[in-house]
Parts: sequence; C-alpha cells; structure tokens
Amino acid sequence: MKLGEIDEGTGYGRAQQHHDAELAEVGAGTPCGEFMRRYWHPVALSAKVGTTPQNLRILGEDLVLFRDRKGRPGLLYPRCAHRGTTLYYGRVEDEGIRCCYHGWLFDVKGRCLDQPCEADGGRHRDRVRQPW
Ligand code: FES
Repeated sequence: MKLGEIDEGTGYGRAQQHHDAELAEVGAGTPCGEFMRRYWHPVALSAKVGTTPQNLRILGEDLVLFRDRKGRPGLLYPRCAHRGTTLYYGRVEDEGIRCCYHGWLFDVKGRCLDQPCEADGGRHRDRVRQPW
C-alpha cells in the first residue's frame, strides 16, 4: 500500500459517524419524543417503588418516583414548582411528597395541597401544579 492510499478495511479517513436525530432523539419537542409520549412506558418495578424517592431518567427527562403513604405511585418533575429545589430529598407523607425547602406538599398528580409558610396553608395553592 502506498502513502496516501486508504485501505478498504480501516476506518481511517472515513466520514464521522452521525445519528438520525429524527429517530434517535426523544427529548420533549422532538418528533420521536412527541410520538413516544403518546404511549405508556414501564419506568420501574412496582415492588421497588416505596416511600423513598428515586431519581430516574426516561425520554431525556429527569423525574422523581415515589409512592405516597397511601400506596399511590407518583412520578413528578424533580424541581419544585416554588423555588426549584429537588424533590428527591422530599419527605413522603400520606398525601404526597413534601418539598424539603419550604415544605410545599404535592400529591401524586402534582397538585399543591399545602404551603405551610403561607396564610391558610396557601390561599392560591390550587393555582400551582408540579409537572407530573
Ligand atoms: S422550593 Fe420547594 S417549597 Fe420552596
């Protein structure tokens, strides 16, 4: 083989690999991501979901998985709707998960049930929804 010739059996000098973004990217707003979000996905074994919050990542999104003390599973966006603290360190209670920072309580569907530092437990708490 002469200098400058490319051997057919090597990758030397070949074009860089690339992926098909339309098929391989699954984040929110991507074509495949929007398609995949129309279906249910198993994210954990039910027996392994308890009152200790778990971080998980699916379809490019970080989420927190837990089971409230009534046994209902919850899967929430991990950053608290109030000031963005992680709910991974939240305290699981009967009705949901309570943020460790200011104590807002979210049920398994992200509804804000309590804002303990606000008057009357948060007069406008029904306007807050943690993505779930
Ligand atoms: S950051 Fe969660 S209650 Fe304030």
